[in-house]
Amino acid sequence: MKILRARDYTHMSRQAANIISAQVILKPDAVLGLATGSSPVGVYEQLIDWYRKGDLDFSLVRTVNLDEYLGLSGSDPQSYRYFMDRHFFDHINIDRANTFVPDGLAPDAAAECSRYDALIRRLGGIDLQLLGLGHNGHIGFNEPDEVFTKGTHKVTLSESTLRANRRFFEREEDVPRFACTVGICDIMQARRIVMVVSGADKADIIREAFFGPVTPHVPASILQLHRDFTLVADEEALIKV
Ligand code: GLP
Repeated sequence: MKILRARDYTHMSRQAANIISAQVILKPDAVLGLATGSSPVGVYEQLIDWYRKGDLDFSLVRTVNLDEYLGLSGSDPQSYRYFMDRHFFDHINIDRANTFVPDGLAPDAAAECSRYDALIRRLGGIDLQLLGLGHNGHIGFNEPDEVFTKGTHKVTLSESTLRANRRFFEREEDVPRFACTVGICDIMQARRIVMVVSGADKADIIREAFFGPVTPHVPASILQLHRDFTLVADEEALIKV
């Protein structure tokens, strides 16, 4: 595990974007595993900036997102598909047909999860997975559990995650309670993993996840065992380590 200490959110975003752009330059048809949440937004902004300057070309890149809320269509402003379009895909020259997010409206969630796992396999696996970190240590929507879940699956979101997501919805009852997420095994099979974490509110979970035991009660802790994992965190997030 490598830790890159960033001064602040902007610096963190730039450092992570550097790693992603190196990947795209070295392998123009790379498969990028992408994440939502406030943490990676700055990374996407930096990549868009470099694309506009002519330094990056996404025309052959394929992307697979980590997760999606069940019950929301891709045109719902709260969906992760919508998030990705607005924060990234709308601003670069990626072929939209090469961008994948689980279908939140699939009538059979289990079938959609299997389809998504098969899709990742068909793409040849993930070259570089970008991750954020939930306050309870979740990655994607892999919530604390008794075991590490393997493939893409349906999850019931934890109370802590529902509370964290509440800010994005007008009414409490609108916050989706279920999601489809790629599993820990899919994430661990990525050839390289980069996680971005910012802010003092993540300092405790950083200590638990990366300076404590590997346990499914803190799903991100398993990343300690990955052979090419880089944590890019700002000073505030690293204040307790
Ligand atoms: C959601 C996403 C995660 C993300 C987490 C943290 O739960 N499913 O992929 O890492 O939020 O979000 P933020 O970066 O806004 O703290």
